[in-house]
Amino acid sequence: MRIGILNCGGDCPGLNAVIHGVVGAAAAKGWEAIGFRDGFEGLLPPGDFQFLTPKDTEGILKQGGTILGTTNKGNFAAKLGTDDDVAKVPQEIVDRAKRTLDQLGIGALVVVGGDGSLTTAQQLYEQGWPVIGVPKTIDNDLKATAMTFGFDSAVSSVVDGLDRLHTTGQSHKRVMVLEVMGRHAGWIALWGGMAGAANVILLPEIPFSYEKVAEHLKKREAMGYTSSLVVVAEGAKSPDGEISTIDDNSGGQARLGGIGEQVAAQIAELTGKETRCTTLGHVQRGGTPTPLDRILGMRFGVMAAQLAEEGAFGRMVSYQSYHVDSVPIKEAVMELRLIEPDTEVVRAARAVDICFGD
Ligand code: F6P
Repeated sequence: MRIGILNCGGDCPGLNAVIHGVVGAAAAKGWEAIGFRDGFEGLLPPGDFQFLTPKDTEGILKQGGTILGTTNKGNFAAKLGTDDDVAKVPQEIVDRAKRTLDQLGIGALVVVGGDGSLTTAQQLYEQGWPVIGVPKTIDNDLKATAMTFGFDSAVSSVVDGLDRLHTTGQSHKRVMVLEVMGRHAGWIALWGGMAGAANVILLPEIPFSYEKVAEHLKKREAMGYTSSLVVVAEGAKSPDGEISTIDDNSGGQARLGGIGEQVAAQIAELTGKETRCTTLGHVQRGGTPTPLDRILGMRFGVMAAQLAEEGAFGRMVSYQSYHVDSVPIKEAVMELRLIEPDTEVVRAARAVDICFGD
């Protein structure tokens, strides 16, 4: 048996832990493992791949990024909408990639990806490929899994950023705004904001007004707090309903960003407070994975190998109630997992006077 593994889409702390898990579990079963470079692109003839043994993955648990490389562009970038809107990978590309898979005698292909890559994986599965999905994204926005690895590491970068902004903000009596990643989901902003003691958190899921934000900051000022922390999710819509984008990413997914500066400018105008904005950006994606992401990634990899052994193709590893299990890939890519505005965690934040601008 030969098992293939590839990761595609944006990188994410913990990817190497998945590779370590798949390779280790495969070796224990007496299988060979092959890693394809730069996602599905590595499958295109003549094939860009390497054999992986446990010796090759020794020490990679602690490394951010991915030893296999990745891309969120290229021939296999599929996701643009949902359901029927989804762009399909052209058949000619699929057929060429399949030739490599067949020539190498790959009996199972583990695809570690987010929404877009798993949509491609589903297309390939429907064409008979022996595909197993592993959910990956710092955004934590995949349906059918309670958590993705990478999220915890991204949250810790946000918390580190907020801890730093807290001290400089206090020294200068400023409002410090931090824009964080997450695309259309506010998980990174909510968890990072709560753990980093933000006073205002603006999410894509909860419409906000600048007046409410300013009112809250003025109330804090009146109570004697001279500085405040505001976390803004990059996908938070401005009060006119617009999502701020940087460019349209040449026909792919639009790059989000810019809302933090808008929020900072409005806060300065409405409160008269000196305000500064920081965009945390790819710091959230890079660096050392947290212990939680290492363990989650490794367990996901081991489960992927187990699914391969069972021939459970078309399934995605999933984390539910502290257990690693699996679900059909299709269930995970149908829609995004967003924050429910009235959920317990949001209510807990409100209870300690965190403002959501609503
Ligand atoms: O999906 C992960 C993510 O980091 C998002 O949070 C962010 O909007 C996007 O990827 C950034 O993509 P890129 O690396 O292409 O700029």
